[in-house]
Amino acid sequence: MVKIGLIYKQLTKRDLKVLEAIEKGHSKYEYVPLEIIEKYSKLPEQHVLLSLSKMHRLKLVKRKMISGYKAFRLTYLGLDMLALDYFVRKDIVEAIGDRIGVGKESELYKALAPGGKKVAIKFLRIGRTSFRKTRIVRTWAQDPRIDWFKQSKIAAEREFKALKELYQIGTYVPYVLAYNRHAVVIEYIEGVELYRKPELDKPEEVLWKILDTLRKAYLEVGVVHGDLSEYNVIVNVDTNTPYIIDWPQYVYKDDPSAEQLLKRDVEYIVRFFNKNYKVGISPDKALKYVRGENE
Ligand SMILES: Nc1ncnc2c1ncn2[C@@H]1O[C@H](COP(=O)(O)OP(=O)(O)OP(=O)(O)O)[C@@H](O)[C@H]1O
Ligand SMILES: [Mg+2]
Repeated sequence: MVKIGLIYKQLTKRDLKVLEAIEKGHSKYEYVPLEIIEKYSKLPEQHVLLSLSKMHRLKLVKRKMISGYKAFRLTYLGLDMLALDYFVRKDIVEAIGDRIGVGKESELYKALAPGGKKVAIKFLRIGRTSFRKTRIVRTWAQDPRIDWFKQSKIAAEREFKALKELYQIGTYVPYVLAYNRHAVVIEYIEGVELYRKPELDKPEEVLWKILDTLRKAYLEVGVVHGDLSEYNVIVNVDTNTPYIIDWPQYVYKDDPSAEQLLKRDVEYIVRFFNKNYKVGISPDKALKYVRGENE
């Protein structure tokens, strides 16, 4: 298992400067020529080379010879280091812990904020799966890998904005602290994922809290989650509180697919509660409530 906290600790200011220089170079190159890295980092060649060989060993960069010249690109792990460094420098995160899990398009780590507050860092990893499968040779300009970094950054910003707005209006979502590049720092939720079907004292109340969140998201923020399932709800069984997570794919209510997605989200979660907790709520009635069609 990759311990990103341990890797981060091994990096010096110089290493981070070199990573930043490569990141900057990615606006033009898939593999950034050594010369450009030297120029952007304002460091002597020998220092850059030492740093690069160390970071290659740590799998933060990949290297390639391009017409006789050395060139480098960041890996997702390399990008993680830059985001982590931002969070550490800004006093958002103090210590990085174990990996919580690997999702389809993300990797989550436990961390501590100053004062000992537990947080989760979600690193978006868009395109990683196809990334590995892709064997087609492309030139740097056409390579979608850099776009995947971009896509991950867009997804992180979207998740941050959605969570922030939703939290402000008093819905059942985790508090969000910050985002940088492709990473979001979110309050760590102590609880059980709904797919584990935890025993609930008042399951109907939990469901209504979820529906209330969907309703406020739709009517007040104007967004639809779009991927709601028992995997994206964490429940604190002691307080009977659900937390709806995983928002980067949300759509605005004027999106052509919004109505269909809203119907799917609502019907899906209601059926899950009906089946597993025997709450007996009508999916139609729930949808009307969420759409604000009855009080
Ligand atoms: N704030 C949090 N606190 C505690 N655990 C969390 C938090 N956010 C996410 N997790 C855990 O990490 C898992 C993945 O998170 P999330 O759903 O946001 O990412 P994902 O990329 O969509 O993953 P997947 O593809 O598996 O749905 C969750 O199912 C949950 O177990
Ligand atoms: Mg998820």
